[in-house]
Amino acid sequence: MQNSNWKQYFDQKATTHGASVKSSDYYDDKSFYLQRDNILQWLGDIKGNVILDAGCGVGAFTEPLASDNDVYGVDFSAKSLEFAAKRGLKACQGDLMALTFEDDFFDLVLCIGVIQLIPDYVGVINELARVVKPGGTLLVQTLHRGSIQRKLLRLIEKDKKFDRMYSINELEDVYRICGVGENIEFMKMFHPFSYVSHGKTGDTPSNIFCTSFAIKGQKKRG
Ligand SMILES: C[S@@+](CC[C@H](N)C(=O)[O-])C[C@H]1O[C@@H](n2cnc3c(N)ncnc32)[C@H](O)[C@@H]1O
Repeated sequence: MQNSNWKQYFDQKATTHGASVKSSDYYDDKSFYLQRDNILQWLGDIKGNVILDAGCGVGAFTEPLASDNDVYGVDFSAKSLEFAAKRGLKACQGDLMALTFEDDFFDLVLCIGVIQLIPDYVGVINELARVVKPGGTLLVQTLHRGSIQRKLLRLIEKDKKFDRMYSINELEDVYRICGVGENIEFMKMFHPFSYVSHGKTGDTPSNIFCTSFAIKGQKKRG
């Protein structure tokens, strides 16, 4: 799908489902909370940080961070941003390909479930890395291409909405190229088993069952 169609698609979702995580295309609350709670736990206790939720949708993912941090949410869906603002995010309409923030602005940038929609994912990661402070963290979560469950699903799926999926190693390479390759760690999710693993190794045999993953890395200092 083209960018303008995704914008319309998520505006329509937010009009239909309101503040619900269904507006951000989660299958149900359980799958959303599994992702969110594990990722927030992995990040640890965060207070007093300047945070960007890139492609924030209705803002449900970073809502728990908004009381103790300065959380900005960028999305091109104006309708979704209305709900993100009510959740305490500083909502800004914009395109992740060209952010209006200055360089080195954020302590933490999160981009959850977005790059599977964007053909120029390297351009987006490069732009997100630009706005991370030296020593700050970029965390990107997306769909895993090598998963057996996803391959089976694709055989029966009528609506092939998310054409883009990624290997863990290719995102690790992009992180290194974009200057956010320090202290890289991975979180792998194995649906429908509700199993999550953490570690520093991207490429492992168990990856054939990994349905989605998150990568975090820090921007080089100096
Ligand atoms: C699947 S939703 C995920 C929302 C949120 N991150 C979450 O996990 O709850 C993807 C979001 O990315 C936004 N998006 C996709 N491409 C974008 C772009 N190029 N610029 C800004 N927002 C974009 C969509 O409007 C949508 O709200």
